[in-house]
Amino acid sequence: MNLHMTEEQLMMRKMVQDFARKEIAPFVATMEETEQFPRHLIKKMGEAGLMGIPVPEEWGGVGADFTSYILAIHEISKVSATVGVILSVHTSVGTNPILYFGTDEQKRTYLPKLASGQFLGAFALTEPGAGSDASRIRTSAVRQGDEYVLNGSKVFITNGGEADIYITFAVTDPSAGTKGISAFIVEKETPGFSIGKKEKKMGLSGSSTTELIFDQARVPAANRLGEEGEGFKIALANLDRGRIGIAAQALGIAEAAFELANSYAKERKQFGKPIASHQAIGFKLADMATEVEAARLLVYRAAWLQSEGLPCGREAAMAKRFASDTAMKTATEAVQVYGGYGYTREYPVERLFRDAKVTQIYEGTNEIQRLVIAKHLLS
Ligand code: CAA
Repeated sequence: MNLHMTEEQLMMRKMVQDFARKEIAPFVATMEETEQFPRHLIKKMGEAGLMGIPVPEEWGGVGADFTSYILAIHEISKVSATVGVILSVHTSVGTNPILYFGTDEQKRTYLPKLASGQFLGAFALTEPGAGSDASRIRTSAVRQGDEYVLNGSKVFITNGGEADIYITFAVTDPSAGTKGISAFIVEKETPGFSIGKKEKKMGLSGSSTTELIFDQARVPAANRLGEEGEGFKIALANLDRGRIGIAAQALGIAEAAFELANSYAKERKQFGKPIASHQAIGFKLADMATEVEAARLLVYRAAWLQSEGLPCGREAAMAKRFASDTAMKTATEAVQVYGGYGYTREYPVERLFRDAKVTQIYEGTNEIQRLVIAKHLLS
């Protein structure tokens, strides 16, 4: 693996850093406080090309490599993990399933809109009774002529209510286990499809997380993604890529927490010297810096494998597990370094602490990542 970024990747990083500083940073405190979805940012990110980084130019995207996409999630999440997850879910699991598994017609219909930010994407797999055990979903899809009729519900759907399309998984053959699940592109205006309860969350407060309800929802057969029975593979293959995105989001949170703690520890004086000069804090900062660096290497190695078209399931799971644990640990230590101030909403470390937690949970809990890694070790 080449540890140096290419000219294009460096340009992408600079562009994203400038965008995050100018367009996202001024809005973060209000967005989190008011739990306001950053709709205007979606438009601006679309104009800047950020909504379709890995989508080829012929489908209206930027056509950059996967690593460029990952570094965009990383840089954006340093400023706002909320915007990071919106973009990650939109791209990794809202857009890429169409890019990798869609027909030309589906690509023509949806990719230019998704890549420009006119449409926002979401991924609807999880159900009340099927979280980690994703193959146990019960939402059903029954073919009737040129349509499928969907019944059931989904929970914890990121971008729920805000997204224009939902990559939805439903059972078309209940007797066939994982081979009885199919994938569909469900548009928000679909008759019989509605948005349920919006969750009030610990963190990522500007992002939307909702239930979805399918009550005799009629989806055109032309919107089935892949063949009947291919849905579970489509879900897991996209989650492999998606987990690198969440790992990059976690890396952004960890890096932000470390940088804040490091600067604060150099300024804050106790016992006549900066607290960073006390070994208790100096060692903390040394561990934080080391773990953030290790997370960075795992994230970019997984991204590089994916960019090269090489298998990356094991490395994606390792990156997601390690980077999210590092985000939680680093944010916890950053609060500690800030002391009493760190526990107040006046300083951003408490937000990083709250945002970090979910990276250990969504897009496959870290227990599931260990399961995936262990399966690879056995094979
Ligand atoms: N890619 C493609 N196919 C895969 C695959 C992969 N990575 N992993 C497994 N498969 C295939 C297998 O080859 C197998 O097919 P065959 O029968 O043809 O061999 C089939 O899928 C079933 O495989 P398993 O028996 O291994 O499946 P399982 O039922 O044991 O489940 C699991 C495996 C890893 C636990 C899976 O259920 C899983 O990943 N669970 C976690 C779900 C998850 O990540 N949810 C996240 C929701 S999205 C989200 O969180 C977004 C957000 O808001 C941020």
